[in-house]
Amino acid sequence: MAIIFHEQSKTFHLYNQQISYIFKVLKNGSLGQLYFGKRIHDKECFDELFEMRKRSMAPYTYEGDMLFSLEHIKQEYPGFNHGDLRYPAFTITHENGSTVNEYVYASHSIYQGKKSIEGLPSTYVESDGEATTLEITLHESHTDTDMILYYTIYETYPVICRHVKFMHYGMQSITLDKALSVCLDLPDCNYEMLELTGTWCRERHVEWRKLMHGVQSIYSMRGHSSHQYNPFLVLKRENTDERSGEAYACSLVYSGSFLGQVEVDNHNVTRMTMGIHPDQFEWTLQQGESFVTPEAVLAYSENGMNALSQTYHKLYQSRLARGVWRDKDRPILVNNWEATYMDFTEEKLMNIVHAAKDAGIELFVLDDGWFGKRNDDHAGLGDWFCNMEKLPCGINGLSRKIHEEGMMFGLWIEPEMVNKDSDLYRMHPDWVMNDPEYHCCHGRNQYVLDFSRKEVVDAIYEMLDRILEKADVDYIKWDMNRSMSEVYSNCAPQQGRVVHAYILGVYRLYEMLLKKYPNILFESCSSGGARFDAGMLYYAPQCWCSDDTDAVERMMIQYGTSFAYPISSIGAHVSACPNHQLKRMTPLNTRFNVACFGAFGYEMDLSKLSKEETEEIKQQVIFMKQYRHLIQYGTFYRLVSPFEGNTMAWMVVSSDQKHAIVGYYKILQSVMAPFQRLYLQGLAPDKKYRINTSKEGLYGDELMSCGMVVSDASCGENEEVYNGRNGDFQSRLYVLESEDESDEKI
Ligand code: DGJ
Repeated sequence: MAIIFHEQSKTFHLYNQQISYIFKVLKNGSLGQLYFGKRIHDKECFDELFEMRKRSMAPYTYEGDMLFSLEHIKQEYPGFNHGDLRYPAFTITHENGSTVNEYVYASHSIYQGKKSIEGLPSTYVESDGEATTLEITLHESHTDTDMILYYTIYETYPVICRHVKFMHYGMQSITLDKALSVCLDLPDCNYEMLELTGTWCRERHVEWRKLMHGVQSIYSMRGHSSHQYNPFLVLKRENTDERSGEAYACSLVYSGSFLGQVEVDNHNVTRMTMGIHPDQFEWTLQQGESFVTPEAVLAYSENGMNALSQTYHKLYQSRLARGVWRDKDRPILVNNWEATYMDFTEEKLMNIVHAAKDAGIELFVLDDGWFGKRNDDHAGLGDWFCNMEKLPCGINGLSRKIHEEGMMFGLWIEPEMVNKDSDLYRMHPDWVMNDPEYHCCHGRNQYVLDFSRKEVVDAIYEMLDRILEKADVDYIKWDMNRSMSEVYSNCAPQQGRVVHAYILGVYRLYEMLLKKYPNILFESCSSGGARFDAGMLYYAPQCWCSDDTDAVERMMIQYGTSFAYPISSIGAHVSACPNHQLKRMTPLNTRFNVACFGAFGYEMDLSKLSKEETEEIKQQVIFMKQYRHLIQYGTFYRLVSPFEGNTMAWMVVSSDQKHAIVGYYKILQSVMAPFQRLYLQGLAPDKKYRINTSKEGLYGDELMSCGMVVSDASCGENEEVYNGRNGDFQSRLYVLESEDESDEKI
């Protein structure tokens, strides 16, 4: 791994074994992009890639020179209104209203390691040898401002991490109207764009589109990363599939409003940008002030989509997530939400606890409804003290009882919100984010607290701290159940700062809680998966993936989520049937077979199950304890997409390739169906694997090249009698163990 600067040609080459990223200082002092992709040889100069032609209507930088036009040069971090006519990565307005800027290369430094970004989540290193960083300073002399571009390349990942800092020294202020984190100009437009899109209960469905001239974008202007689009996008070649072909991706380490945009210009250059959404963003810098953007992680794969996803899985699992839970098997939990909603007593909860303990479950999570006057969603948010009518022993009493049972205790909070019917609102109505001259929309009868204000965050911290000091809490589910509608702070220096300052407030509260309570496992949540993003993973290594707990819907949601996020981060629970969201009946084993590919748990009243169900759940828990490390930390492969047909399959393989688990799922049953095979991936070709469903061991090469037969009774005249284990929504887990005697068993 290295970052090389070629003095003569002023070319930077960042490379490791897998990728090269090359750009240069142009003759006007700005930075021109030359190449990003598979590793290539280093050399002094790549100027042959830097093409210029006379093109009518283009603005040219130099008199007498009809070649150098920023409109047609591929760039690293372009502005607007000074030659480039495409969408810019930044826009800065001067005090006199001018938006012309000329940032010119001033200096650079290259060092081992990676610095953290103050106040913001970011990927990190554990030792300096893991990565090399390049900082390039460009200077704008009229406003007297520095722009520092940061690039980090890891030794073992095909990624480039980027962010930008502006430092203003001038007497007159400047205003950032747009300050994205990254820009990547690619020389052609023969790509398909993948996005993860949806809504509540239908998050992160996978969609592709062929790039067209003009702008295609994903975004959130909701104050959180949203159910609608995820801050992640992929550009892949048409023939790229899960196993082969080229793909580029960009993931933003941020949880607020964002914009991801791909512009194809009329000469077929593709410009991909991502960062804080520029609408509702305006950040003025006075002399001596600075602004830093969130980090964006660019990745490249020449071996298809699975390899691309695996890069993000490994990086985010080990160098974004932090803390004591980062590498630990996640506790099997039961959450009382779908079991009781807010209608619970200590007795009801303890019945669930006893049944859970009996089944071998490790963690009980008390969801919404335990605080203030919270009996429905009209009251209580903001009052973070125990509702003693419901829980006479308090949270500390309940947590003690649960620990006495030998289980861990977890608690739900929604610290960013307030109900009008709460002591907090009655005391501080101005802490709600809203322009007081206008009526404010509610969402689920609640209002957004102004987390851009320090005193608001501090007050919430104090309330939570009081609970956590007394009670033994092992886990926190941090929820956020509405989007922002009226963004206005009653005391912000500038309204255009509020959306970003809000998310900085959220990060600060996380940081304070983690500092004082480093052993707590956090699970983030936002009405299910509306804040499932890389920013959150820095604080909470797992995230409740969706409020939709139906096994069939979850196949799609978890499959889509896996494009960017590791299995250890995907909160997934077995719930009751009929399913509460869809009213669909699915077999208990299929509900398990889907949910076990995640940070696993239950979301049902375990005290009300039949004997058979209780027994089945006990077996599931035993299985999960045995295999959760493999599932949560193994190498994950998508095999068959639920978006393309009636079946779905995925698998995990241990890093030593001795163990694997394959999940195969069939949505609707059929008759006289074709025979079915699954072409496995990631196995050792020369190892023989014993499979739980057959007697004979099979070599890895056969399983990958000939496929594993998964045909069932439906491949002929299906004469089986319905017994719940056939019919619709069937699934199977195949456990593969190396037969090699020297390989230890799990
Ligand atoms: C939304 C979450 O996604 C649910 O799991 C549950 O915690 C509710 N909020 C509680 O209000």
